[in-house]
Amino acid sequence: MSSKAVSSIPKLVQSTAKYAAAAALPKADAPPKKEAKIKKFNIYRWDPDKNGDKPHLQTYEVDLNTCGPMVLDALIKIKNDLDSTLTFRRSCREGICGSCAMNINGVNTLACIR
Ligand code: FES
Repeated sequence: MSSKAVSSIPKLVQSTAKYAAAAALPKADAPPKKEAKIKKFNIYRWDPDKNGDKPHLQTYEVDLNTCGPMVLDALIKIKNDLDSTLTFRRSCREGICGSCAMNINGVNTLACIR
C-alpha cells in the first residue's frame, strides 16, 4: 500500500462521520409526521367450526394514513396486520366483478368503491 493511500484513510473516516451526523439531524424541510387518523371498524364475525360460536361484532382500529382510501383497503390492512383469521372475498378492486359485495353501514354495496 502506498503512503498516499494510508494518509487518506483518516480523511475518509472524518468524511463518513460528518455524513452520519448530518443524517441524524432532523431536516428542516422534511414534511411533518402525519397525525394518526384512527377509525374503528365493527365487523360481523362468526366461526362455523367453533361449537356454539354465535355471530358477534368485533372492533378493529385502523390508522387511515397507513392504508388506501377504500373500505376494502382497510379490510386488507386488518387481515394483513391485525387479524389473519378475517376472511372476505375480493377480486378486481375496480367495482366490476362484485366479489367484494357486503353490507357497509347498513347499505349493500361494494367494499372497493366505498
Ligand atoms: S373486488 Fe371486484 S367489485 Fe370489488
